[in-house]
Amino acid sequence: MERGQRVVVSAWGETPLEALESFVRLEPQERPEPGPGEVLVRVRSCAVGWVDLLMSSGQYQHMAPPPYTPGLEFAGQVEALGAEVTTAQVGDHVVADGFRTGPRSHGDHQRWGGMATWALMPARAAMPLPEALSFDEGACLLGSYETACHVLMHRARLQPGETVLIHGASGSTGLAGVQVAKLLGARVIATGRSPEKLAEVKRLGADHVLAIGDGEGGVRRFRDEVKELSDGGVHVVWDGVGGVISLESLRCVRFGARFCIVGWAATPFVAQGKGGRGAPRANQLPTNLIQMKGLDVLGCPAAISTLHDPSLRPRRLGWILQHVALGKLHPQVGPAFSLADFEQAWRAKWSSRFVGGCVLHPG
Ligand SMILES: NC(=O)c1ccc[n+]([C@@H]2O[C@H](COP(=O)([O-])OP(=O)(O)OC[C@H]3O[C@@H](n4cnc5c(N)ncnc54)[C@H](OP(=O)(O)O)[C@@H]3O)[C@@H](O)[C@H]2O)c1
Repeated sequence: MERGQRVVVSAWGETPLEALESFVRLEPQERPEPGPGEVLVRVRSCAVGWVDLLMSSGQYQHMAPPPYTPGLEFAGQVEALGAEVTTAQVGDHVVADGFRTGPRSHGDHQRWGGMATWALMPARAAMPLPEALSFDEGACLLGSYETACHVLMHRARLQPGETVLIHGASGSTGLAGVQVAKLLGARVIATGRSPEKLAEVKRLGADHVLAIGDGEGGVRRFRDEVKELSDGGVHVVWDGVGGVISLESLRCVRFGARFCIVGWAATPFVAQGKGGRGAPRANQLPTNLIQMKGLDVLGCPAAISTLHDPSLRPRRLGWILQHVALGKLHPQVGPAFSLADFEQAWRAKWSSRFVGGCVLHPG
């Protein structure tokens, strides 16, 4: 019998790095047989996501009970079909719908993430890989671009000619935000800590880039430059970083701007580790500035929002797939690691060592 390998999270750590050291292992995997309504996918590429790392410490809002295989987003080839499957064929190239299978889903397939040789999924989770994309690009598509559409279209209602300030722009979601904002006709000011990575972000579409430097809490005062670049203040802030940068951003806006909370990469440990509940270290925003600037502060959870309004998803997926087919959207894939080097890949992701996504190849 052919054997493969899979990454297994056997318990939640206090932090992702502690989980990695103590509870995340590579194990042998036997080829599973698909049951009725399931497809067996041979994984060709799996994204290493921020959420995968955060989930390993039980600090993400959606918990995957250990033991499970991480890997929310992946692409591969259908290798076998269970009974009653009519929507896929052996050999099809597919992308996993991470809301319907793997750690971000609910139910039986939650433990079947993509950091493995094989993944079982319900047939309805196997979406066709767009022809224009490689397996690596397919693995880096949905989470980032769905988030970008949710933030910029459905929440910020970004308009052509407006200016958006995007923090964490070198990351998977931030870079998708840069590209979607440009397609919507906006002007983009992108920030980050590394001038080298920012040069790449500019090459990939940002109009202006700003290094945030090393002032208080690692962030310098940049409000004057942003105001100058945006004729008095930006219309929209995309905050995927949190902490001190959020406060400085409140000084970069024009009256009535929209402040989008996307994430908090700089302050990831808002919740208790090891799956404990509560948020004892949550970020806070000053109400006086929000009031005086007439700001709309918008929470932007791309996945949770679809539970409350299922019509959001078909709209944003339609937009994304259309722009991929037109050759206007290309996920940026950074380094690729073999599955055996997953530890190295997780550390590279956690310390933001590259621009865009990062993938594992099970081989
Ligand atoms: N709203 C949603 O539905 C949604 C969906 C997906 C992700 N998220 C959240 O969005 C955030 C980013 O996720 P991602 O997948 O894009 O992660 P990522 O690829 O690791 O990118 C995060 C970026 O933030 C910057 N950053 C990281 N640590 C920082 C620090 N200590 N100080 C300042 N900047 C820092 C880095 O840019 P530089 O190195 O260039 O500074 C990095 O490229 C996370 O909080 C994630 O949970 C939200």
